[in-house]
Amino acid sequence: MKRVFLGLLLFVMLFIVSACTGKDTDRETEQLTEDTSTSFESDTAMPIEDDAEETENQETEMIDMGIFDFETKKVMLNSGYEMPIMGLGTYALDHDTCVSSVKALLQNGGRLIDTAYMYGNEDAVGEGVRQAMEEYGIPREEIFVITKIYPSQFGDPEAAIDMALEKLDIGYIDMMLLHHPGNGDVEAYKTMERYVEEGKIRSLGLSNWYVEELTDFLPQITITPALVQKEIHPYYQEQEVVPFIQEKGIVVQCWYPLGGRGHTSELLGDETIKSIAEAHGVSSAQVILRWDLQRGIVVIPGSGNPDHIKENLDLFGFELTEDEMEMIFLLDRDEKHDWY
Ligand SMILES: NC(=O)c1ccc[n+]([C@@H]2O[C@H](COP(=O)([O-])OP(=O)(O)OC[C@H]3O[C@@H](n4cnc5c(N)ncnc54)[C@H](OP(=O)(O)O)[C@@H]3O)[C@@H](O)[C@H]2O)c1
Repeated sequence: MKRVFLGLLLFVMLFIVSACTGKDTDRETEQLTEDTSTSFESDTAMPIEDDAEETENQETEMIDMGIFDFETKKVMLNSGYEMPIMGLGTYALDHDTCVSSVKALLQNGGRLIDTAYMYGNEDAVGEGVRQAMEEYGIPREEIFVITKIYPSQFGDPEAAIDMALEKLDIGYIDMMLLHHPGNGDVEAYKTMERYVEEGKIRSLGLSNWYVEELTDFLPQITITPALVQKEIHPYYQEQEVVPFIQEKGIVVQCWYPLGGRGHTSELLGDETIKSIAEAHGVSSAQVILRWDLQRGIVVIPGSGNPDHIKENLDLFGFELTEDEMEMIFLLDRDEKHDWY
């Protein structure tokens, strides 16, 4: 009887162990097939813990960092905050168009907005955010606003940051970038670091910093940037610069995803992109934006048209095949559409 009981106990234990192992394997397989985007390890130093469970949790967090979650439509930044992987760019939008575009984005489920001191519309972005929070009942915590300070402001970064906080008037800034490299950029970044400590800015980043600039800049600062913004579209793909940035645990976000104003008709009319769009029953813009997401690049297409804004958020009902990704990679012609 005792032998039967022991045998039964052993069988139950073996069953539990195999069920747990099987579950983990299934989850890993699921993650590998579902995460179509780029993953990378963080270079953020993690404290050594004795507690095995805590170490395991930290490892999971490190692995999750930078991976696009196509279910939640977010990415975990190295700052510990999650950011939506698609949103709205507001360059060249006048005040009223900017307010209505921000509201159109938020009403249609978008949560990420990019502005800058240089665009002259931080106040409009703030107005749109506040109105949408009130009218559509969206909590502030769900919304992610990026703004930038310009090199002409690097001489007095406190004044620049305070002005951005005041113009936006949404409590805190989710992410602030230095718009371009320039005189005083390290000091300006260090000032932003102090505002992070004070809780007035949550994450930091850089815009238009590439391989040489990053290599020189990173050793001089304390908080690794969470994001680098740069020009990327099918005619200017930066196939080497993108992984260079991502491998540092920094998320890449593209500007001019559709080529930029004045260049969109050529890109959206490109025969290769059009043929892929037709195969999926979507628009050329959606194909380009989806191609970015599958490269692990966050998209902020600019638009003052509510129909386009809605369309640009609808990127999760189809997936580009490896062949289609490759066809778009072959369109690269190193054709920059701006000087920086
Ligand atoms: N860090 C930097 O130095 C830097 C530089 C440039 C831009 N940016 C940021 O990146 C954002 C994106 O760049 P961008 O706005 O200049 O250029 P873009 O997103 O490449 O193109 C914007 C143009 O695309 C059109 N468009 C948008 N969605 C469309 C759709 N679904 N179908 C057809 N046309 C569509 C827009 O027209 P409609 O208005 O008619 O929709 C607009 O003319 C900017 O808004 C800005 O926030 C950053």
